[in-house]
Amino acid sequence: MVDKTINVTLTKDKKEKPAAEKLEFGKVFTDHMFIMDYIEGKGWHDSRIVPYQSITLDPASIVFHYGQTVFEGLKAYVTEDGEARLFRPDKNMQRLNRSNERMCIPHIDEDLALNAINELVSIEKEWIPTAPGTSLYIRPFIISTEAYLGVAPSKSYQFLVILSPVGAYYKEGINPVKIAVEDNFVRTVKGGTGEAKTAGNYASSLKAQELVADKGYAQVLWLDGVDKKYIEEVGSMNVFFKINGEVVTPALNGSILEGVTRNSVIRLLNHWDIPVAERKISMEEVHQAYKNGLLEEAFGAGTAAVISPIGELSWQGEQLIINDRKTGNVSKRLYDTLTGIQYGTVEDSFGWIDVVK
Ligand code: COI
Repeated sequence: MVDKTINVTLTKDKKEKPAAEKLEFGKVFTDHMFIMDYIEGKGWHDSRIVPYQSITLDPASIVFHYGQTVFEGLKAYVTEDGEARLFRPDKNMQRLNRSNERMCIPHIDEDLALNAINELVSIEKEWIPTAPGTSLYIRPFIISTEAYLGVAPSKSYQFLVILSPVGAYYKEGINPVKIAVEDNFVRTVKGGTGEAKTAGNYASSLKAQELVADKGYAQVLWLDGVDKKYIEEVGSMNVFFKINGEVVTPALNGSILEGVTRNSVIRLLNHWDIPVAERKISMEEVHQAYKNGLLEEAFGAGTAAVISPIGELSWQGEQLIINDRKTGNVSKRLYDTLTGIQYGTVEDSFGWIDVVK
């Protein structure tokens, strides 16, 4: 039986909160964090909320050498009347366990993890920023802690949750970003770890991103790892293209992350009777649509990125300027509706909101 008790130790030394207008993404952390341990034979145990602090690990811990680790990202929002809420947190916990499965990490009890997040956010409620476009980013993650240099699944782990008050993920805010299509490096391949939220996928993306950053590109758009032809995702968000009235997003194929925002976008588009297709889509097709004047909008969707319009795609030396670098109608409607549901100004008719007690 899993012991679901969470012991709480509150800090005596609260930090100063940053000014809302200065908030960036993921640079400031709140006063408390959640930790739970795992040891083979005993299972997950010792759930606790403690003052935010450094953790001590053996330098031989498997996570440092072989990257056996997974993470999640979700957000807490506060409504005008002070209610703290989470957006589809159950989906994140389900995905965390799917990532665990792929990375040979023991499953966590999803209810226990959801309780831990609720309790932590409730303790840190004052940290949820109220300015438009800001929220409290929640980062649950699991690290392998066994001190062992052999390549094998760890026999011990820690599950942690830390919180960070955030502003927009991209410096462009909600304005269209420039994205470079990457046709040299690949993020992952089918059969790899692409659909797991694991550190290595992100570490391997850095080089490509670094090479385009000084030309003003916020991120790269990954193509499939075999033919470098079909569109996959951006790394911090899934992508959508509106072509001749239909919204198309790459079908989940084992190497694309199954985004919670991606799923919510598809459900909203269906609800609005806007044609939406999940299918293979090549960069060539997007280019052809652009040439024919049929590429109406492009946008990314993710927890951190929310809905991020794409104003320019660079591919094989050509710059595709999309919708005159302006936010398109569908992107705007999706952004307004999703954030409206999250911040409580639009009715939650899908039952996506969990109120933090
Ligand atoms: C998120 O959207 O929450 C993510 O995990 C993307 C991250 C790389 C910032």
